[in-house]
Amino acid sequence: MLRLRSFLCLLGILCLVDPAWAVDIAADPFAGAIQLKSDVANGKAEFQRRCAQCHGENAWGSYDGEFPQLAGQHRSVIIKQLADIHQGTRSNPKMIPIVIQLSNESSQLIADVAGYLETVLMNPEPEIGDGDNLEVAAAVYESRCAECHGVRGEGDASKFYPLVQGQHYEYMLRELQWLRDGQRKNANQEMVEQIKEMDDRQLASLADFLSRLMPPEDRLGEEQ
Ligand code: HEC
Ligand code: HEC
Repeated sequence: MLRLRSFLCLLGILCLVDPAWAVDIAADPFAGAIQLKSDVANGKAEFQRRCAQCHGENAWGSYDGEFPQLAGQHRSVIIKQLADIHQGTRSNPKMIPIVIQLSNESSQLIADVAGYLETVLMNPEPEIGDGDNLEVAAAVYESRCAECHGVRGEGDASKFYPLVQGQHYEYMLRELQWLRDGQRKNANQEMVEQIKEMDDRQLASLADFLSRLMPPEDRLGEEQ
């Protein structure tokens, strides 16, 4: 609950009425990071040192979806996910030592890494699915998902809605299954409502559809 309050406060919604929540933010290195300006050059160096061995040097993740692409993701979303992993509401055993280190160091470090990731050009060749049922998926996406994730999967930084365009297919399929089944506990309940009756096949075609939604040309890196 405190976490939600912190983020509502950061959005300027609640903390004006209760200064106690502002204290909570000061004590929380992740919530504190949201308010800081990012030093992108330092963020790049720290990313290479702490994160690249799993997420890849250019933050493109792994083609099998084990490691998500982080390039291009909104700064606010990166910070929220790190906070949730640290708090345990999003289970991610591999990253526990890393988020503990981050939280013991400084809000500035967290702001720098997240700010850097938002600027990185995205993978032009993410893993995609088998291409079945894309038209159905497009219609479902438009009616049930676009309101939050945007028509082109660009997300919404101010509301912590992730950018989902051009992300690896298998990563998204796994996350959709975990969100539906309650395994990813930081889920947005309104989103869970949209997918709770869907079977794996339907989720697969949605993940496939999203993996093919590419960002604008000037946000894409060179093929490698
Ligand atoms: C030991 C490997 C490893 C390292 C090092 C690592 N990560 Fe991760 N990270 C993962 C895995 C695995 C996942 C996906 C977990 C899942 O399936 O939900 C992930 C997921 C994430 C996510 C969630 C992405 C999303 O789209 O919601 C963020 C944000 C993230 N990592 C940031 C970082 C940052 C920043 C660093 C360095 C400070 C880092 N990671 C270091 C393994 C790692
Ligand atoms: C009410 C707004 C909302 C709606 C509607 C919604 N989502 Fe989400 N979605 C979110 C939020 C918020 C998260 C991140 C939850 C968290 O903080 O971990 C998310 C997470 C995701 C993720 C994981 C992203 C990642 O990087 O790990 C995928 C994939 C996704 N949504 C796809 C969909 C699809 C497909 C639909 C439609 C069937 C949909 N969403 C509907 C708000 C929404």
